Amino acid sequence: MTSRRTVVRRAPGKLYVAGEYAVVEPGNTAILVAVDRCITVTVTDADHTGVVISSDLTARAVRHRWLDGRLTGGDGSTAHVVTAIEAVADLLAERGLAVPPLSVSVTSTLHDNGRKYGLGSSGAVTVATVAAVAAYCGLQLPADARFRLALLATARIDPKGSGGDLAASTWGGWIAYRAPDRAFVLDVARRRGVEEALRTPWPDFEVRRLPAPHGLSLEVGWTGNPASTTSLVRGLHRRAWRDSPSYQKFLETTADVVHAAIGALEAGDREDLLHQIRRARQELARLDDEVGLGIFTPGLTALCDAAEDVGGAAKPSGAGGGDCGIALLDADAPHDIAHVHGRWAAAGVLPLPVRPAPEGNEE
Ligand code: PMV
Ligand code: MG
Repeated sequence: MTSRRTVVRRAPGKLYVAGEYAVVEPGNTAILVAVDRCITVTVTDADHTGVVISSDLTARAVRHRWLDGRLTGGDGSTAHVVTAIEAVADLLAERGLAVPPLSVSVTSTLHDNGRKYGLGSSGAVTVATVAAVAAYCGLQLPADARFRLALLATARIDPKGSGGDLAASTWGGWIAYRAPDRAFVLDVARRRGVEEALRTPWPDFEVRRLPAPHGLSLEVGWTGNPASTTSLVRGLHRRAWRDSPSYQKFLETTADVVHAAIGALEAGDREDLLHQIRRARQELARLDDEVGLGIFTPGLTALCDAAEDVGGAAKPSGAGGGDCGIALLDADAPHDIAHVHGRWAAAGVLPLPVRPAPEGNEE
């Protein structure tokens, strides 16, 4: 009997704490936190050439074949897994190596009966697949290189995506993330190769660890409605509005909020942090009113109001339009937390037992 070699890697999901939308513009910072739910990717040898991908979210395993460095044969439902494998293959190809026959299987605790919570499952599956396939192929990649490969993979599907989700999934814990110019990094990879794109400095890109907030509990409410980040961001990027003074003000105010919130986290200043999160809610609401994006659903508005009524702060997390909202509540007031959960439930928002995840390892 031959024994199969198996490599398993996990990557956590994430929540946006502040700075969403603005972070899509290169050079703008967002605050994110990884959560204790994850995607697990298991890689083993396969008997046939190509890559067999199976997932607990798709009905059956699908065999993909290599054609000019790209995997063909899928129906698009595992696009993030496919592009992540291709990114590792691009790097190997530059070193004169090929990806051996693989079987890749994906499981998720970031879904409920096949419905996404909006906790960054696409980013987590990309990060976990890069890590698992690279390790299986014998590549020793530090966190920074794994993040960069994941961003190159994602940017091919959605060049507007900031990569904040990938950073949270890669580094874990609480982070400040500033996005690189995705057009620039794709161009470097295309013209000078992936190896070079992993080595060369990426203008604006920065990840910094932040301390967890003091005396505050991060509570998560799920609206039960999956939202499409891509279509919300496309809505915002309608040309005319992006040139408007109002959008400039959104970017400036958000930069100020994020900067102040980082300062409050670092200083352990709980009241100021709550103040900044309330400002972040207001600024997103102003953006939503002006552009009519649909960031705030009735459930998300109810989620925010309930938290603010007990002296906490809350906002949609990420693109909004459904998915999850977050609240920061006094950790020493379990009655208030229970009261907020009750009001969320009455508004059709499910309190999720999701906690911040610890920092990942950086090898
Ligand atoms: O809805 P989410 O969790 O995918 O977050 C989207 C955050 C945006 O800033 C709106 C988009 C992005 O790519 O950063
Ligand atoms: Mg979302």
